[in-house]
Amino acid sequence: MGTPDKSSTSMGRQQQADLPNRPDEWKIEQGLLGASLPILDQSAPEPRYVKPMEYKPRAYRPRENQAAIDSVGDRDKLFADEREGWAGYVEWEAYPDKKAAAHKILEAHDAKFQMGPIPGQNPVLEGVRWKQWHTAVGGGLTKFPDLSWEIVQKEKHKDMLHLLQFPYNGEPPKRLVTAAEITPNPLHFVRNHGGIPHIAKDKYSLQLDGLVKFPHTFTLDDLMDEARFPRMEKMVTLQCSGTRRIEQINLYAGEGDEMINAPWAEGAIGTANYFGISLKKVIKACGGLVDGGKHLEFYGADTYFKKNNVMNYLVSVPWSKVKANEVMLAWEMNGEPLPKIHGYPLRVIVMGYIGARSVKWLYRIKAIDTPSLAPVQSQEYLYFNQQVGKHNQLMTSGIQIQEMPVSSAIMSPWTKQIVIHNGAIHCKGWAYSGGGRWPERVELSADGGFSWYAVAQDALSHKKKFAWRTWEIDLPCDVEGWIEIVCRCWDNSLNTQPLNVRAAWNWGLHVTSSAHRISIYSVNKTREITARRLQDFDDRGVSFAPLTVPTEWPIQSMDDYVKYFKLHGPRDAENEYDPKDLAED
Ligand code: MTE
Repeated sequence: MGTPDKSSTSMGRQQQADLPNRPDEWKIEQGLLGASLPILDQSAPEPRYVKPMEYKPRAYRPRENQAAIDSVGDRDKLFADEREGWAGYVEWEAYPDKKAAAHKILEAHDAKFQMGPIPGQNPVLEGVRWKQWHTAVGGGLTKFPDLSWEIVQKEKHKDMLHLLQFPYNGEPPKRLVTAAEITPNPLHFVRNHGGIPHIAKDKYSLQLDGLVKFPHTFTLDDLMDEARFPRMEKMVTLQCSGTRRIEQINLYAGEGDEMINAPWAEGAIGTANYFGISLKKVIKACGGLVDGGKHLEFYGADTYFKKNNVMNYLVSVPWSKVKANEVMLAWEMNGEPLPKIHGYPLRVIVMGYIGARSVKWLYRIKAIDTPSLAPVQSQEYLYFNQQVGKHNQLMTSGIQIQEMPVSSAIMSPWTKQIVIHNGAIHCKGWAYSGGGRWPERVELSADGGFSWYAVAQDALSHKKKFAWRTWEIDLPCDVEGWIEIVCRCWDNSLNTQPLNVRAAWNWGLHVTSSAHRISIYSVNKTREITARRLQDFDDRGVSFAPLTVPTEWPIQSMDDYVKYFKLHGPRDAENEYDPKDLAED
């Protein structure tokens, strides 16, 4: 953890001989600390070594250029909460001058990166930079890191894995991800980019403008008026494009690998019954789109930071998606008002798309002619070709992620686990496909993906458009020792998953849609020796794990050992000889 020390890069190039061993030299040489490894530049006649930027722990300096900060004026006034009853909402989009002032402040600051290997703690990462940015800008935002954490503790399950404390990113632990077909609200994953605004229901309104015939502002009561807008209820799976990112991180460093980029596992997916209305009807109530209106841009009330700029959370979806009644404005989640952390009082639910388009704390919808130019749409959530990275990345070299591809994951057993079984390993997990497709078949392999067993239809949860299916299987497995269990799904269009992570690895570490692989240590109790050995451990009251601890008592008697070789002959084959030859010696 530390602050980038720019001077260390400008120290520049040195020959390898000049670089003394470091205490962590072995880890560096073995690729376990990639971020500390010098660059090997072979482009010149003589190879050169370039030291990476160093991140030295040092105190945060909140007032680097006080004069610049002071020149923006009273920050508490400038960035005060925007509207009565809307705590934590600063309107940035309508005020370029406010954006410019915040930019000036952020440029004058020195925010800390959180670098280094992922620590073993919960919250896993703190989100140091984002906290500092909120404090730096001031006004209503200052208190948001603390207030948001309070809401997390109130609304989320105590066993959530808090991958990032602020902005809050959390997922349920593996054992609870597929405990039920519908994810209980406290266990639904959360992906936030800023603080959690608190908007009073009676002060809420939604502005609808841009390329619509009759721009209009609706209160929540207007939207809930059944005479105007028929209600809809839909079971929808939301999946973050970062789901299972940790598998890509484990393979190669990508953007934000060792910084604050949530190292999501298989729990960044959740399924809920949402209740609300179709956005199509609301657009119709505004007289429909005028010529050129092709996309709907959604505005979230939270504050988003990017490259020292501040803005609200903005993304868009095409009108065709809205027209198909696949975009909801929802105020209820699993029979309860939306929790604050999930977008209270009103959010968008875009069925079958990447979760990023389902905007929370929605305050404005604008009909526009092109997809949103805002950074979340144009600079984030891009899917790059494998050869694209820091050296050549362009915004236009990534595909904007919309419909999620088919994917699946094993929730039990866990990778590296010892599994004692009677010839079949009980596995469970989820399978999902975006774009309104659904899992038709889930298959598992106990031999690394050579032969596959299909999950029985009655061991899969209900088939629904826009929702996942949870599944269970007793996977036949005779083999013992380290094996690789693989899971893949075929959706109703017969799309399936690439077989390994490398095939789908990308610089932004998005959409880990490859077949899910876990390594387990198989101990098959139907084998006689194995059953006896386990009994032995039991009788002695000694745990079989950890696997790597040698067994402290004789694993076979010397009598048995001698008997074995008597029966089967000695270790080495002996030359056949004739007794007469022996006599000649
Ligand atoms: N809406 C706003 N206003 N701000 C956000 O940070 N995050 C998006 C989306 N909507 C986000 C947002 C992302 S990336 C995802 S994956 C989903 O919300 C997650 O929804 P959830 O937190 O309710 O699970």
